[in-house]
Amino acid sequence: MDDRIETMKTQLSFAPLARIETEVLAVLAVDTQTAKGPDAKPQPTLLTADLSAMAAAMTVLASGEFKAGANETLLLHAPAGLAAKRLLLVGLGKQAKVTVHSVRSAAGTAVRFIKPRGIRELVFALPKLDLPAASCTRAAVEGALVGDFDPDTYRSDRKDQSVQSFTLVAPADADKPALEAAFAEGVILGESQNFTRSLVNEPGNKLTPTILAQRAVEMAQEVGLKWSNDSTDKLHELKMGAFWSVSQGSAEPPALIVLRYEPEGVTDGPVLGLVGKGITFDSGGISIKPSDNMEKMKYDMAGGAAMIGAMRAIALLKPKVRVIAVVCAAENMPSGTAQKPGDVQTAMPFSADKPGKTIEIINTDAEGRLVLADGLTYARQLGATHLIDAATLTGACVVALGYVNAGAFSNDDATWAKFDAALDTSGEKFWRLPLGDEYAELIKSDIGDIKNTGGRWGGAITAAEFLKVFVDDTPWIHLDIAGLAWVEDSKPYIAKGPSGVAVRSILEWVRSY
Ligand code: BES
Ligand code: MN
Ligand code: ZN
Repeated sequence: MDDRIETMKTQLSFAPLARIETEVLAVLAVDTQTAKGPDAKPQPTLLTADLSAMAAAMTVLASGEFKAGANETLLLHAPAGLAAKRLLLVGLGKQAKVTVHSVRSAAGTAVRFIKPRGIRELVFALPKLDLPAASCTRAAVEGALVGDFDPDTYRSDRKDQSVQSFTLVAPADADKPALEAAFAEGVILGESQNFTRSLVNEPGNKLTPTILAQRAVEMAQEVGLKWSNDSTDKLHELKMGAFWSVSQGSAEPPALIVLRYEPEGVTDGPVLGLVGKGITFDSGGISIKPSDNMEKMKYDMAGGAAMIGAMRAIALLKPKVRVIAVVCAAENMPSGTAQKPGDVQTAMPFSADKPGKTIEIINTDAEGRLVLADGLTYARQLGATHLIDAATLTGACVVALGYVNAGAFSNDDATWAKFDAALDTSGEKFWRLPLGDEYAELIKSDIGDIKNTGGRWGGAITAAEFLKVFVDDTPWIHLDIAGLAWVEDSKPYIAKGPSGVAVRSILEWVRSY
């Protein structure tokens, strides 16, 4: 890891906008044009009550050069009447479509605009909108932190282009305590996502299961979570035959990472179990993957990293609910000790009277469901009453939903409703896909209980049906983030590379209990 890069310092201010001396002042704008058709010109409107800022932007807004499209930018030097050296206009798009999520993106866009220009400080005006100011505050600082992340950790000529100082400016008559609380939350959320992203970004040789566990433990000690970190012996002791079968072909030992958040005074009520797939490299094993894009399979631990990042945020935000995270980390490799297609494995037993299911291995590349099977059973054994898992589980999910929506599944509508509501706050896109007995049929095995693949069609669903076997009757949500864990093309507000997807939604879901 690279320690040369400092993280961004963030502060909330209530000073008068026009008098703030800074390198760049960013002010947002919307397009208020409601008419449609060829003659309906965009009407960019500045989202501030500050008269000096409005005066400074007036000419360029009237010129038609800046349309206030979503994440559109325009930079003015030496704006008259402002103490700032530059005024940056950032568009939010059509007024009717503007949400808190547009503000998050705009803050990221502002940060990513100044980064390559060597500007290290940014003052960002909280937009005057018909939206809750606290939500906008939270989103703005979160978006700025997320925007500041770049994945070029191992470039020897890496320049520190991180924005050192981000100041959000709210009007003096705002509800200061409410905005301060929201701001602090946004910082925790942004930093936790970046923590997840820094883990996902690491190559397989630098982030083995052992090192992933060390990073999780360091974080747990920092924020005050209980933790345990075990390997091969513990897997054997717990009879985690499915998890072990994935790691048996690798020279790197597996890691069974458990993080616990136990708020004081909370002794009853739900225990939420967060289970993450932590494959630090997925070669496919004996059913080896084609070499094209195989390097991407370093991010096959993104689900586990999302759970670790979510636990960081949970520890700092202190919701009144108990949470346990189980991350099953392993490397999936071909070797003389690797498992083979046709092998039969026995998954972890839940209890003495509930023996582990037998699994026929059809394809050693369907390894995520194997480690999760034992992770889900273990989370239940540790007392989880509700389960959520996240995994870069199937290419089929990417075929179904592209890079736009991640897949989601649930065996319980009430639990799903809570997650669906969490999505409104997080702004992340998950699309619920079906489960059903007809799909479960496809993973029945002739030799044992189930097989680890269900054939060509409906691959994301048969993978979810596989997991469902191991959650029993526990309310459960499964997130297939294969298509969203890695940003394939950079966007104005986020770098190409690890996205940190699911951290925000999981956190909001946890807070809903
Ligand atoms: N890690 C992969 C899934 C994946 C694909 C993640 C693309 C991110 C991007 C997973 O372990 C896998 O290999 N799944 C197989 C399952 C198949 C063998 C049933 C797949 O999707 O091809
Ligand atoms: Mn695989
Ligand atoms: Zn995988």
